[in-house]
Amino acid sequence: MRPLASRLSVLTGEGALTVYSRAKELERQGRSIIHLELGEPDFHPAEPVIAALEKALRDGKDRYCPMAGVPALKDELAAYLHRTRNLNVSPESVVIAPGCKIALFMAMMAIIEPGDEVLWPDPGFPGYPSITRGFGGVPVPFGLTEKNGFQPDPDEIAAKITPRTKAILLNSPCNPTGSVYSDEVQRRIAELAVKHDLYVLSDEIYARIIYGQKYISMLSYPGMAERTLIIDGFSKSFAMTGWRLGYAIAPPELVPHLVMLAINSYTCVAEFTQLAAIEALRDSTGATPRMVAEFQKRRGQFIGDLNRVPGFRCIPPEGAFYAWVNIEETGMTAEEVCRIMLEEAGVAGIAGAAFGEMGRKFVRFSFASSTATLKEAVARIQKVSAAWQGAAATR
Ligand SMILES: Cc1ncc(COP(=O)(O)O)c(C=O)c1O
Repeated sequence: MRPLASRLSVLTGEGALTVYSRAKELERQGRSIIHLELGEPDFHPAEPVIAALEKALRDGKDRYCPMAGVPALKDELAAYLHRTRNLNVSPESVVIAPGCKIALFMAMMAIIEPGDEVLWPDPGFPGYPSITRGFGGVPVPFGLTEKNGFQPDPDEIAAKITPRTKAILLNSPCNPTGSVYSDEVQRRIAELAVKHDLYVLSDEIYARIIYGQKYISMLSYPGMAERTLIIDGFSKSFAMTGWRLGYAIAPPELVPHLVMLAINSYTCVAEFTQLAAIEALRDSTGATPRMVAEFQKRRGQFIGDLNRVPGFRCIPPEGAFYAWVNIEETGMTAEEVCRIMLEEAGVAGIAGAAFGEMGRKFVRFSFASSTATLKEAVARIQKVSAAWQGAAATR
């Protein structure tokens, strides 16, 4: 066979999907598995969203539609971002995409030239370095460390900026650490972006899933409007992962280019899902705050329980729905801890290296499962923790 494009060999997958496959295989063998590996809310969209979807289909809204997105959804998104993030964005700056990941992919395709350096938070969403490499760019990690509360360090970022740096990827609240970047940190990063004329790709997919503090978008800072692309979607905030609905908010000059990428790939996003998404944004039944309140309850219980497992240490996340657990004190590698948990206890979590080198001593669990399931998961982990207590003792 003729060789395939070399860009394929630089792409990497997602740890969550690999663990999920193994967990499913064990289930097929009759094992009971608690799935804490995937980043998927265990909720479904609210009733008015489903009703709007049905109505749209009955009304025949299943044709090709505007490439940048249905105007009514773009209008609603502008109002939503004003209401929830205090942003003044024009509906013209919105491009609807089939999933947040595609919005990210297109934004990166529009910006990255071969050889361009892209700064990304390590640990971070696995797509950031993979997609960067796929477009011939060079991913340059900046660390999110426990001693720094998993905040980016603007001094480290400044030191890593070179004449080849093209963009900074940010993700607050952060997957996997759950940190919400502070105003001070974001302000300093914004100043660096202006000073060095960099694009900022702000992945705000968890912006609504935040526990008790006010969210500040990167787009709010001086000089950001002309260089920031917000990447967001409906998967997490509205429990619509399988709908594949996301969007980019881009500076006006970039919008036609993103639309050109849409024309050359997916053409448009299904009109019936876009019309239903308007109802999700209006959230007339308060589904999102209810879901977040439930996550907050689970967070309290789960983080407390995890901190009682020998060798585990976990700072409560400020946003998103992940527990990012330091397992250094177990005396084992994160891969070994995850293997024992899955194979012997039937609890699926992800070894942190899947999110970058800085994640090596961590394990990520999603707490988007019921409080009873999370209790049971920790009870199972407690039972097998003797395995690493032995390892820690013989160190
Ligand atoms: C930080 C981050 N960005 C993007 C995505 C992709 O979202 P979507 O499912 O809408 O493509 C995820 C999904 O897990 C994520 O955690």
